[in-house]
Amino acid sequence: MAAPTLPMDDRDGLIWFNGQLVPWREAKVHVLIHSLHYGNSVFEGERIYNGKVFKLTEHSRRLHKSANMLAYELPYSIEELDAATRLVVAQNKLDSGYVRPLAWRGAEVIGVSAQGTKVHVMIAAFPWGAYYEQKAIRLVTSRWKRPSPESSPAGSKAAGLYIICTLAKDEALAAGYHDALMHDYKGRLSEATGANLFLVINGELHTPTTETILNGITRLTVMDLARKRGIKVVEREIYPDELARASEVFLTGTAVEVQPVAAIDQREYPIGPITTQLQADYAALVRS
Ligand SMILES: Cc1ncc(COP(=O)(O)O)c(C=O)c1O
Repeated sequence: MAAPTLPMDDRDGLIWFNGQLVPWREAKVHVLIHSLHYGNSVFEGERIYNGKVFKLTEHSRRLHKSANMLAYELPYSIEELDAATRLVVAQNKLDSGYVRPLAWRGAEVIGVSAQGTKVHVMIAAFPWGAYYEQKAIRLVTSRWKRPSPESSPAGSKAAGLYIICTLAKDEALAAGYHDALMHDYKGRLSEATGANLFLVINGELHTPTTETILNGITRLTVMDLARKRGIKVVEREIYPDELARASEVFLTGTAVEVQPVAAIDQREYPIGPITTQLQADYAALVRS
């Protein structure tokens, strides 16, 4: 990700914070908030195209689901979150950019139990360009594995799960790659640190099942686009030896959009026709 031009805590603008629009620099929390200590905040990442958030309601719905999977309820309905997001995008006069909603448990109590905490929500929106600077990126297989669904709620976009992603991503960057590809606890291919994985094998799209990954909104969108083009989509367990069979590899995600992969470890891939087609279809859809 390109470094932001301004520090995230020191810029002009308004943040929607528990129902109010608050000046950017004043949107602060206490050091004893439960989620800071125990990792149970949940968040979303959304993109703005032509002044509108793509798949806004799907993201608001997933924020609710993420919190529910961590056994709490948000104090705002999906409709209220949608309206708050539209307001904050308009107030910050953003034609394109990124939205970061976050929900967390407050500082009312300390301890592993979150009983007695209040749930807070904020929505920030800011300008943001391409996630990667490269047309096609190089991935390295990470030593960090996505955990079993019995050990973590993979379908929740929960902050705590991102410790694995941050470790994997920073090790990849330090080794000179653009991102990491993670396997799961069974040694199957899973996802990158902020995006889902697709392989093109014999003209079909193959992608891991959702057991240990975040079921991306972009993933589902691109699967739909592929089917509309008559491309068969196969969700299944995929083991790393199958990377040798792939003629194209790409990632999908709100931030990365449809991102060609040039290499995984030592193996190289071209930017192929299916990736190029789906990239164009996605770019057209988000702006339509
Ligand atoms: C770990 C992980 N996987 C996949 C995705 C892609 O999800 P989406 O397409 O909903 O942005 C993201 C981004 O949110 C992510 O952080």
